[in-house]
Amino acid sequence: MTETTSLPKRPRCLSGVPGLDDVLAGGLPANYFYLIQGDPGAGKTTLALQFLLEGLRNGEKGFYITLSETKAELLQVAQSHGWSLDRVALLELSAIENLLKPEAQTTVFHSSEVELAKITRLVLDETRRIQPTRVVFDSLSEFRLISETPLRYRRQLLNLKQEFARQGATVLLLDDKMDKPGVVVDPHVLSITHGVIELEQMAPEYGTARRRLQVTKLRGVKFREGYHDYTIVTGGLKVFPRLIAAEHHLDFKREPVVSGVSELDQLLGGGLDRGTTTLLIGPAGSGKSSARMINAIW
Ligand SMILES: Nc1ncnc2c1ncn2[C@@H]1O[C@H](COP(=O)(O)OP(=O)(O)O)[C@@H](O)[C@H]1O
Ligand SMILES: [Mg+2]
Repeated sequence: MTETTSLPKRPRCLSGVPGLDDVLAGGLPANYFYLIQGDPGAGKTTLALQFLLEGLRNGEKGFYITLSETKAELLQVAQSHGWSLDRVALLELSAIENLLKPEAQTTVFHSSEVELAKITRLVLDETRRIQPTRVVFDSLSEFRLISETPLRYRRQLLNLKQEFARQGATVLLLDDKMDKPGVVVDPHVLSITHGVIELEQMAPEYGTARRRLQVTKLRGVKFREGYHDYTIVTGGLKVFPRLIAAEHHLDFKREPVVSGVSELDQLLGGGLDRGTTTLLIGPAGSGKSSARMINAIW
């Protein structure tokens, strides 16, 4: 993790998720690729929609490319949170369903290759037409499935990266987590992304699910490391950055705090020192509570 150098600072893209920009130390550096990884239901789609809606608020154009969910499903998610996607460009690529049909697999042509090239071309054409500055690609897992070979997958990804970079777009790539925590997945994607955010949900023995996220990589930014809890409520994700005591120091006047009983204050050399802790001990009935109530400050 490195501090920014003397190069001009990249503008930041606010995420639109309360608390996340604090974790990211000011938002995502603009014009790069980011990987949002998590189990199904972890909130990737919701986070991505918040990211696009934040862009709209800043007068930016948003583009949502969906391979995994249908347009109707996406609109339903948005509606459940009270959002309108009228001004977000949506591209639904559900054509891949045909690939999964048996007849598509028995043709003499490499249908997946044809399909992949078609999908990429469609995405590139639409990107050029819409000229978005914020793009969401949902999801890589589907794209990987269509690509069939790592080489084809990587080549198409680089294709997309070049076009998005030309447009000056900040891109969120959503991906289902395929492996156990701690295992680095998909080196092809990792090498082309500027940052990675991992979303996790855990089901304890009792009570509601716990969700937490971790920024595992963000080039050139001193972000808040480690896990941060988050919730999904109507209105979207809310992140609660882990508190760091050292960041919450308050300046105060170092002075004695008087009790109001002059003899006691005299005994204490003017009173108790502000900012210190005093243990008041004594057997039951000796007057601890009364002593504490002498002065509200105590
Ligand atoms: N309107 C809502 N209010 C509160 N929670 C919701 C709402 N809609 C969805 N959720 C929660 O969000 C989860 C789905 O989030 P989603 O972004 O679709 O996940 P992913 O894209 O990672 O699969 C649901 O499992 C549900 O717990
Ligand atoms: Mg989703």
